[in-house]
Amino acid sequence: MSEERRSGPKGPAVTRAGWIGLAVLAAAGAAGGALVSCGGGGSAAALPAASAPAAAGSAPAAPAAAPSTLSLAAQVGQKMFFDKNLSGSGAMSCASCHDPAHAYAPANDLSVQLGGEHMDKAGLRAVPSLRYKDVTPPYADLLDNPDGISVPGPGGGFAWDGRAGTLAAQARLPLLDPLEMANASSTDVVKKLQAADYAPLVAKAFGAKVFDDSDAAFTSALQALQAYQLEDKSFHPYSSKFDLYAANKIGGTLTPAETRGLKVFTNPATGNCASCHYQGAGLNGSSALFTDFSYEAISVPRNAGIPANGDLKYFDMGVCGPLRTDHAPAAPNAANGFCGMFKAPTMRNVATRQAFFHNGVMHSLEQVVRFYNTRDTQPELWYPTVGGTPKAKNDPGFPAYGLVTTQYTGGKVQKYDDLPPAYATNIDTQLPMDGRAAGSAPPMSEQDIADLLCFLNTLSDADTAPATPAKPGACVN
Ligand code: HEC
Ligand code: HEC
Repeated sequence: MSEERRSGPKGPAVTRAGWIGLAVLAAAGAAGGALVSCGGGGSAAALPAASAPAAAGSAPAAPAAAPSTLSLAAQVGQKMFFDKNLSGSGAMSCASCHDPAHAYAPANDLSVQLGGEHMDKAGLRAVPSLRYKDVTPPYADLLDNPDGISVPGPGGGFAWDGRAGTLAAQARLPLLDPLEMANASSTDVVKKLQAADYAPLVAKAFGAKVFDDSDAAFTSALQALQAYQLEDKSFHPYSSKFDLYAANKIGGTLTPAETRGLKVFTNPATGNCASCHYQGAGLNGSSALFTDFSYEAISVPRNAGIPANGDLKYFDMGVCGPLRTDHAPAAPNAANGFCGMFKAPTMRNVATRQAFFHNGVMHSLEQVVRFYNTRDTQPELWYPTVGGTPKAKNDPGFPAYGLVTTQYTGGKVQKYDDLPPAYATNIDTQLPMDGRAAGSAPPMSEQDIADLLCFLNTLSDADTAPATPAKPGACVN
C-alpha cells in the first residue's frame, strides 16, 4: 500500500498546478459520453449463480417459482424487485436498471438510464452493480480502512456518494426519484403494494395489519428489498475464476498473463489499484471485495452527454453534494475536503460493465485503465482543449483510445473539467495518478495494461459475459 494513502477531508492540501477557469469551458462536446445506446466474504467459494438470467434489453422477469429458501420478507423483496407496477410509469422495476443477467447492472451501455413517469427522463449517474454490497458498512467520515495501514477516512455507505446508510434506506431513493421509478409518495407505493397479487405474502411476512399504517408499511417494504439483496445468493455468488484461485480450487489456476496482471494490480510502483480497490480481508469477515469502501477524488472527466451537465454551473461533486446534502460547502467554493470524492467501487464483475465511473463517461474497461495511466501524462486525451486549432490530420501515433480523438495545436487543456478549481487540491495524488508532468512516461507499460485487463476479467462471476471478450489466446501466456 502506498504510505501516501488518501488524505482525509481535513488532510494536507496538495497543491495542484494547471487549473484554468471554467468559464471558457463552453460546450466541449469532445468529451461527451454517450446517451446513445448501442443496445445491448466469507472466504471465496465457488457457488452456482442463483437466478436464471433473463433476456437482455427488456426488464427481466422474476426467476421461476421454486421452493424458496428465502425468509418471507426476502420473498416479498424478490417480488417487489421485479414488479414494474411499483413505478409511476408502470414500466420500470428495480430490475430494469439492475438486471440479474448483467450482475445487477444495466443490460445496455447508456451512461445514465432513462426513467420517470414517461420513461423519458435521463438520470444523473451510472447504475452500479448490486453484487457484493451485503458487507458494506454504513458511511463514516473516519472509517477504519480494512487494510489496517491507511489512516481512517471517508468510507462505507451506498450510492456513489454514500448517502444511504443501509440497503433499505437506499431502496427508498429510486422508488421516489422523479427521474427513476417516480412514485408520487411513499403512500402511493404502499397502495400499489396493497393491490399487488402478492399482497397476501406481504401480510404473511409483516402481519395482517401491515397496510393499516402506511408509513410502517413502506418501512417494511424497504426492509423486504434489503432482505432480498442480503439473502439471495445471486447477489453474492463468489463464482469467479479469482474465487477458485483464492480457494485453491480446480479451475483456479491463473495463466501467466493473469498472474502478471494481478502483480500490476497490487504493485505500488505501477498499477497500485489495490491501494483503493483493496483485495485483502475486508470488513465484517469479508474477503477480496476489491474495494476498501473508501472515497477519493480522481477527477473523472465531465460527461457532456448527461442533460444535467448542460448547465455549466452544475457539478456532481459526490460526497459534498448536491445529491448528498450533509457535507455541503458553507458557501459556493468554500473550502471543503469532501468535494469531488466518489466511492471506489468493487472490481468484481467490472469486465462485464458497459459504462464506467459515477457519470458513465467511459464505455470500455481498456479506456478506463488507459485513463488511469495517462490522465497526467497526456491530459489532452481526456479533457477538452480550449483555444487551440484542431489538426487536419492527427500525427501518426496520436492515440485513438481517449475521450478526445482530435489533436490540437496550441490551446489549453482544461484538466479536471468536472470539479470547480477551488477543489482541485482534493484530488488524490497516489499512483497510478500521481500528478506527474504532461509528456513524461506513464507508470504502466503496454504489457502491464494488457496483463491487467486479463486479470480484471478473472473477477467476473460464472454467470456473466465479458463486455469485450479478449482475443483468443490473449490472456494465456
Ligand atoms: C432508473 C434506474 C434505476 C432503478 C429503476 C433503480 N436503481 Fe438502484 N441505482 C441506480 C443508480 C443511478 C444508482 C446510483 C445512485 C447514486 O449514486 O446516487 C443506484 C444505486 C443503487 C444501490 C447502491 C449500490 C451501491 O453501489 O452503493 C442499490 C442498493 C440500489 N440502487 C438498489 C435499487 C433497488 C432496490 C431498486 C428498486 C426499488 C433500484 N435500485 C431501482 C439506478 C436505478
Ligand atoms: C486513489 C484510489 C484509487 C486507485 C489507486 C485506483 N482507483 Fe479505480 N476508482 C477509484 C474511485 C474513487 C473510483 C470512482 C471514481 C468516480 O466514479 O468518480 C474508481 C473507479 C474505477 C473503475 C470504474 C468502475 C465502475 O464500476 O464504474 C474502474 C474500472 C477502476 N476504478 C479501476 C482501477 C484500476 C484498474 C486501477 C489501477 C490501475 C485503479 N482503479 C486505481 C479509486 C481508485
